[in-house]
This record gives sequence, C-alpha cells and structure tokens, in this order.
Amino acid sequence: MRIDVITIFPQYLEPLSLSLVGKAIGRGEVELHIHDLRDYTHDRHRTVDDTPFGGGPGMVMKAQPWGEAIDEILGSVQTPGAGSPVLVVPTPSGVPFDQKTAASFAESQWLIIACGRYEGIDSRVFEYYGQQIDVLEVSIGDYVLAGGEAAALVIAEATIRLIPGVLGNVESAVDDSFAPDREGGALEGPVFTKPQSWRGLEVPDVLLSGDHGAIAKWRADESIRRTSQRRPDLSSS
Ligand code: ADE
Repeated sequence: MRIDVITIFPQYLEPLSLSLVGKAIGRGEVELHIHDLRDYTHDRHRTVDDTPFGGGPGMVMKAQPWGEAIDEILGSVQTPGAGSPVLVVPTPSGVPFDQKTAASFAESQWLIIACGRYEGIDSRVFEYYGQQIDVLEVSIGDYVLAGGEAAALVIAEATIRLIPGVLGNVESAVDDSFAPDREGGALEGPVFTKPQSWRGLEVPDVLLSGDHGAIAKWRADESIRRTSQRRPDLSSS
C-alpha cells in the first residue's frame, strides 16, 4: 500500500516511523511519502491560507497549493498496482471513521491524506478531485483537534495494522474490539497475565480451568456486558 500525507507540519508524522507501522514500512509493505504543503506555494511567505468568503473568524486553506500538491502526487506515482487513490480528508465535519472504514482503506492500494488546519480547506478542492477519484471526509470523533495531523496518525495506524501480514498471528486482529466476526459484543472484555495473584487480586478461575468452551463463553459474556455498560449505542440487547 502507498500512503501520501500532505501537511504543513511534516514532522508531526514522524511517529509513523516507529513500531508496527515503521516495521511495515521497513519491510516494504507500506510506502509512505510525506509532503510539505508549503513547497507548493509561490510567495515569499509561503502562504497557505486566506480569509473566508462570507466573513467570519479564522482562515481557510487556499485551493491553489492543495491543487498543485495533489496534481503532482497523482502524476508522479509509479508504484505498481497502486491503482486509483482515495483522497482522505480528516475533519470534524466528516463521516465517522470506524473499523469498517479502516478495513476498506486497508483494501485500497493507495491513500492520499490531506491534513487541513485552521477552518479547513477550500471546498472546491474536494469537489474538483471528486470528479476523478474517491474523496472521503472523515472524523475520528466528536471533538475538535487543532488540525488533521493527529487524525492522520490514527487513520494510518488503524488501516495499516489491518493489511494482511502486518500483524503477526500472535497479535492477529480477529479478536479486536469492533472486529466484524467477534464472538460476543463489540468491545473486548478484560484480559489478565501472570502472576495469578497480584496485590491480593486473583485472575478469574475460569481462565485457569483449561476448559476452552467455558473460557470462550466467559469472554463472550464479559464482552456483551462491557459493551452494554460502556457503549449502549453498540449493544444489540
Ligand atoms: N480535525 C480536527 N478535528 C478532527 C476530528 N475530530 N477528526 C478528524 N479530523 C479532525
């Protein structure tokens, strides 16, 4: 998979060189390119924003540098099999980004993530590229971040860990909270490791029983209980 990220803060994306995502990049399973939006400006101040039409507070990102950056990326790609990209735009006014969205991104061969700042990006950018490629404005939650970069980290990590082969068998994604084929509820229940007794607290007996059927049932029940307590909106009962 190829991921291009466009931002005015390229260093913000440096954590992607660490851990699971960094290793996937190192193995060549993911090709990551970070682009500085200001490289596509032509004035002395490298201006990327301007006042909003219609008035109001804040600034809006200009279409021109976005257009030049995206055009260059679309024109430069020689990644075999990259196909047509999805232009992903993190914004609090997007559709919710969830595990299903992550799974669909993991199937696509190429994402371009456009990190906006200020009051957002001139809407004509999405209208224009929507005529040639898929454009999806997504929100990672009902709160407002200072920009799309932190959301891009979230989207990239949630997506990359679902690419076949990125997670080893041991850390497989089938038991994840929200996984489509989970037994029980949407959320994973509590987990325990050694020692069996810690500060007077014991591991539930059933987990020591060796009875795989009973363990699976206990986990499913805990998962349903946790889901109805913490996320009644996801609960089927
Ligand atoms: N940019 C600012 N807030 C955001 C959010 N909640 N989700 C995605 N992108 C954002």
